[in-house]
Amino acid sequence: MKVLIFDTAERAAECVAQQVIAQVQGKADSVLGLATGGTMLPIYELLVSANKNKQVSFSQASSFNLDEYVGLNPDHPCSYHKFMRDIFFSKTDFDVARAHLPHGNTGDPEAESEDYENLVLGAGGIDLQLLGIGENGHIGFNEPTSSFRSLTRIKTLTKSTIDANRRFFEAPAEPPKYAITMGIETILRGKMIAVLATGKNKSGAVATMVEGAMGAYCPATALQLHRHTTVVLDQAAASELKMRDYYFQVHPDGKDALV
Ligand code: F6R
Repeated sequence: MKVLIFDTAERAAECVAQQVIAQVQGKADSVLGLATGGTMLPIYELLVSANKNKQVSFSQASSFNLDEYVGLNPDHPCSYHKFMRDIFFSKTDFDVARAHLPHGNTGDPEAESEDYENLVLGAGGIDLQLLGIGENGHIGFNEPTSSFRSLTRIKTLTKSTIDANRRFFEAPAEPPKYAITMGIETILRGKMIAVLATGKNKSGAVATMVEGAMGAYCPATALQLHRHTTVVLDQAAASELKMRDYYFQVHPDGKDALV
């Protein structure tokens, strides 16, 4: 794993946005693996401005999001479909016909999961996968004890994930208890992976992901098996890493960045 540590969350997000821009500039029809959640917001803002400034065009790109809540239709204000439309697709030249998310509101979520897995494979695989990380070490919605060989499927969300998601739902609405998520094997098939983690609340999960023993209890440790994963952090998220000085020595101020 390449570990890049920046002084601020803004600079860490810029680094990941630059990687996406470079990927699409180098290959216009790139297949992007996209994530939602608060950590990703500054990345999408930067991509929207880069698109407005004509620095990059997404018109030939395609995308697959990691996950969607079971039971929410694409127009539900808290669905990930709507999140992606509002903050990214509708503000850029992204062709929405090539933007994919699992459908959480089908009558048969198991069949939907299998179809989604096949859709990702059929697209020739993901060139660059963006990831956030949960406080419990989840990637996508692969909660602790998810198999490293898992494919797209329905997962029951943990209480910690449901509580973390509550901030996006207006009370008395409760966040959903289930999601369709790409599996860990689906994620590991991505050619390049960029994980962004910012803030002190992620420092424990980050330390385990990078330096902990690999195991299903912290799904993000599966990324230790991937050849081209870059973990991009601010100081707060990096604060529990034992070898922080070493990472900084290898990539001072994220200098050998992703571009
Ligand atoms: C979102 C996703 C999740 C989030 C994670 C962190 O599509 O798959 O794994 O990346 O829960 O969420 P935030 O960034 O809101 O802390």
